[in-house]
Amino acid sequence: MLPETALDTIVRPNIKALTPYRCARDDYSKGVLLDANENAFGSAVHREGQWHRYPDPVHDRIRDRYAALRGVKGTQVVLGNGSDEPIDLLQRVFCTPASDAILVCPPTYGMYSVCAQVNDLAVVQVPLNVHPGHPDHFQLNVPEILKALDNKEGPRVRLVYLCSPGNPTGEALRLSDIQALLDANREVIYVIDEAYIDFLQSREEDGGRGSGVRFIREGHPNVVVLQTLSKGFGLAGIRLGLAMASEPLIQYLLNAKYPYNIAGPTADIAHDALAPEALDGMRNGVSKLLEQRELLVNRLRDMSSQGIGRFLGGRDANFILVEVLSRDSSGPDPARALAIYTWMAERSQIVVRYRGSLPQCLGALRITVGTPEEMEECCARLSQALTLSDEELRA
Ligand SMILES: Cc1ncc(COP(=O)(O)O)c(C=O)c1O
Repeated sequence: MLPETALDTIVRPNIKALTPYRCARDDYSKGVLLDANENAFGSAVHREGQWHRYPDPVHDRIRDRYAALRGVKGTQVVLGNGSDEPIDLLQRVFCTPASDAILVCPPTYGMYSVCAQVNDLAVVQVPLNVHPGHPDHFQLNVPEILKALDNKEGPRVRLVYLCSPGNPTGEALRLSDIQALLDANREVIYVIDEAYIDFLQSREEDGGRGSGVRFIREGHPNVVVLQTLSKGFGLAGIRLGLAMASEPLIQYLLNAKYPYNIAGPTADIAHDALAPEALDGMRNGVSKLLEQRELLVNRLRDMSSQGIGRFLGGRDANFILVEVLSRDSSGPDPARALAIYTWMAERSQIVVRYRGSLPQCLGALRITVGTPEEMEECCARLSQALTLSDEELRA
């Protein structure tokens, strides 16, 4: 395990030296509040709540509830405007523009690379293993990742983004592979993006699939786990993501984030969503969704003679990645998949996601699991689209 002091050598020197912004509200939040230049006469719209006041800078009550849910300490949690915010913030804290790099394992979530471009960072790619039908499919290529980390030529990798369960793969990464990376003791930060963790049914076999929060509990100073209320909790609209890590790492993120990055209404809803009775509701919702996912898989299987091919990824998230085949079923057909995607969106207002241009996703559509009615409509339209000629799809 890396010593905690290793963080001081990975962090950007200017962030290490940063004097963070502090507001009086960091110390005092009650009484006659004349510290933050707010409008004491109230807000321009009349809604219940103290909206003329700035929100809490850190939201300890939410950090504590989330920490209790995941088995860490409140001081090991920082909140973000969605998990997209910490994806970016980590780059600003640990990577020097025009000098450092991040490492990603495609096919994966696009925002890691988009943020890297904005932050002027190089992107090193080590694709996931590709062995369809084998347990190693869409798993980490540990030796190649370590080789890339040891490469002395080119920009130095500071952050490694590991998406588990993966988007668009729908496959959770083996914890034993992440453990192997950690055992190799490289001076990098491993960012485990667990946006879809609430859909994952943890299992012990084949290296174990589950949350990487265990590495934080074990004391690894260089592991960050990102989670969100956007998926399992069904709260994408409030924009609330969370990063969990060792306390010194969380402190760097707190120092560099905007002072009031989480809006008051968001904080109130998030706090309610994390109350014990609401957690039961979330879990019930997830179980219903998983049932729909299995029904969707069966419906898609029934379309195999019409041109639905293999399921490319796993079943650890709230979506399915499935191949569209050519008319003679000889292989995946990206042009047909794209035409079906466009026809469904424009003719039937059923919007799925064309992922057929990503590596190892040739001709693939990613279908998010919806309500029973939505699934019925989606499958009926997809089945209809599969009967149409190229001309009819284009018409
Ligand atoms: C893997 C992954 N990470 C992070 C996000 C961002 O989620 P949010 O910013 O809503 O928390 C998404 C959104 O789809 C995602 O798929």
